[in-house]
Amino acid sequence: MLPDAFIRTEHLRKVFHMGRQTVQAVADLSIAIPPQTFTVIMGPSGSGKSTLLYLLGGLDRPTSGGIQVGGASLEKMDENSLAVHRRKTVGFIFQSFNLVTSMTAAQNVEFPMRFTGVPTRVRKQRALDLLGQVGLEQRAHHRPTELSGGQQQRVAVARALVNDPPLILADEPTGNLDTVSGFSIMQLLSELHRSGRTVVVVTHDSRMLRFATQVIYLLDGHVVSEEEYIAASTLADVDLSEENQSK
Ligand SMILES: Nc1ncnc2c1ncn2[C@@H]1O[C@H](COP(=O)(O)OP(=O)(O)OP(=O)(O)O)[C@@H](O)[C@H]1O
Ligand SMILES: [Mg+2]
Repeated sequence: MLPDAFIRTEHLRKVFHMGRQTVQAVADLSIAIPPQTFTVIMGPSGSGKSTLLYLLGGLDRPTSGGIQVGGASLEKMDENSLAVHRRKTVGFIFQSFNLVTSMTAAQNVEFPMRFTGVPTRVRKQRALDLLGQVGLEQRAHHRPTELSGGQQQRVAVARALVNDPPLILADEPTGNLDTVSGFSIMQLLSELHRSGRTVVVVTHDSRMLRFATQVIYLLDGHVVSEEEYIAASTLADVDLSEENQSK
């Protein structure tokens, strides 16, 4: 593995138990993501993409194996250290925006700074500056219901940046957006990469590949090669068209 990886997983595994059923969402995954790169994770529904991203972000814990981010081993941290790690190191962007509906755009952006000891006046100004950076200075005092999907996702991007994290994790950030808004979110993420952050994006959207410095293909919780991935997708297409023909 690369010695200078910013993220490194070693034999990472996440198993879910549902009654008698056991699901291996992430199975023996060893990957390395160099610093200041733009990694795209692709895989079909259920292949473990969100589970992996949650593990990398310290939002969930592995069943076994190791995760190092910026030299720190997440699996060894207690809840407090993990919370501090998330706040300092990770900006998370979700498919469904996850904004607090009772708060304005500015309050949503400011929210993760609440626990950092930064004075209120400075926090408010930083939230407004970030909203300006994502092109929403005119919408700072609107609530999420008064914003379009693309605008809500811009607020979520600004919120992810508020504590100036070196790592941005995005889980299908364009999944709920129309083509044009989706593309402008991709461009925002690409700018974050160019400004020196490490960006990891889960997507079904092949347009994202043009921004990627590396692509990780997942099938059933395993990393596979591009060839294996394409072969599996082609098989899935054939299966589907056979199903349709028999209808
Ligand atoms: N909390 C959970 N409890 C039980 N099983 C889960 C849980 N979360 C995920 N799984 C299972 O783990 C597997 C991987 O799920 P995951 O959400 O990571 O997939 P995904 O690749 O993000 O899919 P999608 O593209 O549909 O979002 C799935 O089979 C899913 O049913
Ligand atoms: Mg998912």
